[in-house]
Amino acid sequence: MKELVKKIVPNIWVIKYREFREHGRVKNEFREDAVQYNNSTNFHLVGSSDKGVKELLIFHTHALEKGLSHPHFRPNFGKRALSGLKANLDEFERLNLDKNDFSYQNAISVLKFYKNKHKNAGIDTPFFDSLFNLDEISFGKQMAGAEKHVNKEANDMSFEEFEYYRTTQREFSHKGVDSSVFDEAVKLALKTPSVCNRQPWKVYTTSNKNKIAELLRLQKGFNGYELPPTLSLVTVDRRSFIGSYERNEAYIDGGLFLMNFDFSLTYFDLASCILNSMLPNEEQRKVKKILGISPSEVLIAFVAAGYPKDEVLAAKSARKPTNEVLKFVD
Ligand SMILES: Cc1cc2nc3c(=O)[nH]c(=O)nc-3n(C[C@H](O)[C@H](O)[C@H](O)COP(=O)(O)O)c2cc1C
Repeated sequence: MKELVKKIVPNIWVIKYREFREHGRVKNEFREDAVQYNNSTNFHLVGSSDKGVKELLIFHTHALEKGLSHPHFRPNFGKRALSGLKANLDEFERLNLDKNDFSYQNAISVLKFYKNKHKNAGIDTPFFDSLFNLDEISFGKQMAGAEKHVNKEANDMSFEEFEYYRTTQREFSHKGVDSSVFDEAVKLALKTPSVCNRQPWKVYTTSNKNKIAELLRLQKGFNGYELPPTLSLVTVDRRSFIGSYERNEAYIDGGLFLMNFDFSLTYFDLASCILNSMLPNEEQRKVKKILGISPSEVLIAFVAAGYPKDEVLAAKSARKPTNEVLKFVD
């Protein structure tokens, strides 16, 4: 029957029918994705599943790490993050979760660092003290906080050394970066694998101060730092993909490229900070307008980059133990 229909019906109709069917699938698959997302994700910053509480603890811990490594330390900073951390710790307690967990220990360690940094500078912390049990914090390990990062040439390092050496830096020297460095970095990053080798990436790089300021104002995650000498945006063009089942491919290929681009910048002796571009659609449209990006492209992430200072105080973002990530399955 199928063969007979194929013989009778003009080919263009078959193509149109398949297109129509695929449009329907895209809608249904995205609808199912939306249901899964709605069911799983956190819509407020406390988190009531064990997964949510743990990751939100890490989220708030990181906000404090950033403040602790900030070039202009503000005594008693981070009231929102401290309150968030307090709410997460209370929820952690309520759910009776294991306090040896990475997320809990990480949070306690950043609180200890916060308290000690103030204590060593002779600064009282009344808000902090009203929230946290100082005895419990004193047992915190040395995990999160801030640490000195000394910049050196990266191109002789082994892969393992290089992986541990790369660190997010949010301060840069004022030396300008020649566009040829980006040519080299993108050339190297283009070795990234992609689905069927489609290489759907674009990198928009600017050193225009006004554009950088406007983009970072929309981005909102780099407040309080000096403008970086350059800002890049990695995007992926949706036109590279096929039908419903590749609907999320942009973020896989884009993420792989982003990491390699960031590594390449480090390899060519630049300091960098990847910056979130998961913005509301309206803000994304503004970003696209500033950089002349097509509506068919999805934003993967910004990367602030410049030549490094000799050394910086960097946020110390501790990592989960391997056994929380790697699961062997029989
Ligand atoms: C997708 C992505 C988005 C990020 N967004 C921001 C951001 O908006 N602001 C910021 O200061 N750092 C941002 N970062 C940097 C992370 O905070 C940093 O990579 C993380 O804490 C691990 O630290 P490390 O890079 O020094 O190992 C982002 C990183 C990634 C990968």
